Amino acid sequence: MSEFLELKGIAKSFGDVQVLNDVNVRFNKGEVHALMGENGAGKSTMMKILTGIHMPTSGEIFLKGESLKIKNPREALSKGISMIHQELSSIKDLSIAENIFLGREPVKYGFIDYKEMFKKTEEVLNSIGVALNPKTKIRDLKVSDMQMVEICKAISYDAEIIIMDEPTSAITDREVEKLFGVIRDLKDNGKSIIYISHKMKEIYDICDVITVLRDGDIVATKPTTEVSNNELISMMVGRELEDVFPDKNNVVGEPILSIKNFSKQSMFNDINFEVRKGEILGIAGLMGAGRTEVVESIFGLHKLDEGEIQVNNKTIQINGPWDAIGKGIALVTEDRKEQGLALCRSVKENISISSLASIDKYGVLDRSIENEKVNDYIKALRIKLHSKNQEAGQLSGGNQQKIVLAKWLMTSPSILILDEPTRGIDIGAKSEIYKLMVEFANKGFAIIMISSELPEILGMSDRVLVFSNGEKTGELTREEANQEKIMEYATANLR
Ligand SMILES: Nc1ncnc2c1ncn2[C@@H]1O[C@H](COP(=O)(O)OP(=O)(O)OP(=O)(O)O)[C@@H](O)[C@H]1O
Ligand SMILES: [Mg+2]
Repeated sequence: MSEFLELKGIAKSFGDVQVLNDVNVRFNKGEVHALMGENGAGKSTMMKILTGIHMPTSGEIFLKGESLKIKNPREALSKGISMIHQELSSIKDLSIAENIFLGREPVKYGFIDYKEMFKKTEEVLNSIGVALNPKTKIRDLKVSDMQMVEICKAISYDAEIIIMDEPTSAITDREVEKLFGVIRDLKDNGKSIIYISHKMKEIYDICDVITVLRDGDIVATKPTTEVSNNELISMMVGRELEDVFPDKNNVVGEPILSIKNFSKQSMFNDINFEVRKGEILGIAGLMGAGRTEVVESIFGLHKLDEGEIQVNNKTIQINGPWDAIGKGIALVTEDRKEQGLALCRSVKENISISSLASIDKYGVLDRSIENEKVNDYIKALRIKLHSKNQEAGQLSGGNQQKIVLAKWLMTSPSILILDEPTRGIDIGAKSEIYKLMVEFANKGFAIIMISSELPEILGMSDRVLVFSNGEKTGELTREEANQEKIMEYATANLR
């Protein structure tokens, strides 16, 4: 493997916030190089410097031994560097083909040659096994397909270096396999991949080398085969993390919420379950099993064809999210960026927005209580920020997700529904969130947690429901639950 791309003494600050200190790292040809570190460590910033979105405050970039200034993404592409961004960045009103060929549309007689563009798009999509119509508008796609389109786009530039910033946060296991196939092909063709992910398994599956970044400094660069899982975690979080999952000492009591005969055409059919006081109820299943739609219905986001909700054995009606919040139910959505956050508003406003009613004393907003509560959550969730008056959009991806979680915890719900609560969250913060969940249950409140991460389901749930294709196909106690049984129920309806 030969040395290819090198960062020497790269530093970056935003105003007086120093984000990268003195970064030195080399990427080789034909190598899949992982970049790991906690939320806010500076991973995305470093990659945005490589693609000309940010200019470094100091330091130099060398490509094949030559010093290089990259002033904008177009220039990065012309030097052979492309990137799949952590945030989905496609233009929703354009078609798949228009997005992939934006700014480089094939032209015939002075006009965009749509026929050619659709044909080429189809070829790119086929090359990674994605069966989508190039004419479909991005807004009509599922999130996982949007993500696949972005992957296709980055690959279609035929770049020498492809940066993938959390490419698998919204795709199914099968699609991850497709992506890994593509990565292996790219590697065989001598391309370099820089791969960012918080998922340990992926790192060990696909990466040759790992660089760990902590608080803007490189901790180490090592071959994957020479770093154990525990060593990797302590390099990232800077301390030993004995056990990611806390001891569970919550006591399960009476049913608090019962779902009866929930049905909604083409979403889910005849769903029945209850969750008890002090209980953490896990819902497992494959993506698309209908889990999200069921909890969204509890929250009043879909109109049911049939079904009933009982809280404390009394039938209640929920007429939309505000009604649900008023009745003590909170839902932390899986798609936090889209549904949960006002990016131009301050961190503080984002956290307190849903609970303003509760801090409103005598009709006046009590700023000191608001401040105190917001501070508590920032500390508890280890949200990394410069000031709580900072725009939420300036925080790193994982820290933005923690804000959404804080916002819902602050509404003091008695039933907390979490949809993929730790997706995109670093391992240290994950373990903090798990601790908060157990504390929450310990107060006699109930948690419903949807998760596609089996270790998380097994580590946290008192009871596990399994969904497959819109139906509840299994229910397991904590003792009964294991990976094999869950997978069996999760695929039960797919034959
Ligand atoms: N435009 C900006 N203005 C001010 N601060 C910023 C800006 N962009 C990033 N930062 C800060 O830089 C730090 C590093 O952010 P970055 O997005 O690089 O983290 P990351 O390692 O990618 O984290 P994650 O795993 O959460 O995606 C964060 O503290 C973030 O708030
Ligand atoms: Mg990032």
